[in-house]
Amino acid sequence: MSSIPLATDIYFNLSNGQKIPALGVGTSPPDNKPAVKEQVITAVKAGYRQIDTAWYYGTEQYVGEALKELFEEGVVKREELYIVTKYWPSLYNNPEESINQSLKRLQLDYVDLLLQHYPVAFKSGPDGLPVVPLDEAGNLIYDDDPVTGNKFIESYHKLEDLLENTTKVKAIGISNYSNPKLRKLLAAVKKHKPVVNQLEVHPLLPQQDIIDFNNQNGIRVAGFSPVGSGGAPVLKLPLVNQLAEKYNVSPNEVANAYLILQGVPSLPRTSNLERIKTNIRLPPLTREERDQLYQLGVENPERFINEPWGRGLGLKWFKGDNLSVEFD
Ligand SMILES: NC(=O)c1ccc[n+]([C@@H]2O[C@H](COP(=O)([O-])OP(=O)(O)OC[C@H]3O[C@@H](n4cnc5c(N)ncnc54)[C@H](OP(=O)(O)O)[C@@H]3O)[C@@H](O)[C@H]2O)c1
Repeated sequence: MSSIPLATDIYFNLSNGQKIPALGVGTSPPDNKPAVKEQVITAVKAGYRQIDTAWYYGTEQYVGEALKELFEEGVVKREELYIVTKYWPSLYNNPEESINQSLKRLQLDYVDLLLQHYPVAFKSGPDGLPVVPLDEAGNLIYDDDPVTGNKFIESYHKLEDLLENTTKVKAIGISNYSNPKLRKLLAAVKKHKPVVNQLEVHPLLPQQDIIDFNNQNGIRVAGFSPVGSGGAPVLKLPLVNQLAEKYNVSPNEVANAYLILQGVPSLPRTSNLERIKTNIRLPPLTREERDQLYQLGVENPERFINEPWGRGLGLKWFKGDNLSVEFD
């Protein structure tokens, strides 16, 4: 029997009084969407209590099927789970339409947290289609300038209205916000500050300046892609493997611990059910070991999620971003 604590037992406080589970199961599918059902069932049975999905992923339906089964079998009650979904820039103008669709697919009455997926606005139809509008040259068609525009703020105000006037969301938050974008948003918030900012975080992309600024404003950073996404580059780092050996855990668990031990919930994804079940321990890395991991990213920072819609947002080390002008 291992004496190492479990990441699935840890919860963090949010500014609105909610508690968010420190380990969440990611549901963005590289290929096989229906397989997400079994991944969620496996995760919840293994003790995960946060589920991270999004309108954009096309997997909410399978998350919903998993939840139905888990509730019917009595494995877990709705109120024991923390379910996060996101609305996409193609529906920036109507987060209520997005959450209506999400709730239907998830077979739920409410989500615990609804995030603005990216602070940008696409020119799409009222149904949010096309999801990614492109011109003939393959460039994104925006409804607002991604660098100077303010429609992401109008969109956030609609999110605030949703929280204020409906029971469909228990909390609201943001994702992929740099410090310059967050500064603009905070100056314009009407009543409800975001409780979470979901960002790429791992030893090769520590983003300490963003974590500090969010912490100062009572916003908890949650970390996606903890092993660096496809190909899992973080798992190839010698230091990660040395620490895994020292604590007799997997390199995945070291990657999760790097986030969780600094108060950042970790959102890994894997299609390997065995990995879902076993990667739940929290090795007690020392302060010095965490600093060593952090130094890897200070010396050689690398961002692995570089989707075109992230350009112009002021996110550092964004490959192919020829738009952003504001870095701090
Ligand atoms: N808010 C946002 O904009 C945003 C963006 C990206 C992600 N997310 C959320 O974060 C979740 C996780 O992100 P992610 O999927 O990009 O990153 P991730 O968890 O860092 O990486 C997942 C990849 O690592 C591989 N992997 C994991 N453990 C491995 C091992 N031991 N050996 C070999 N390969 C391994 C997985 O392959 P296998 O399937 O073969 O294990 C998968 O391809 C997503 O599902 C989503 O919920 C949010």
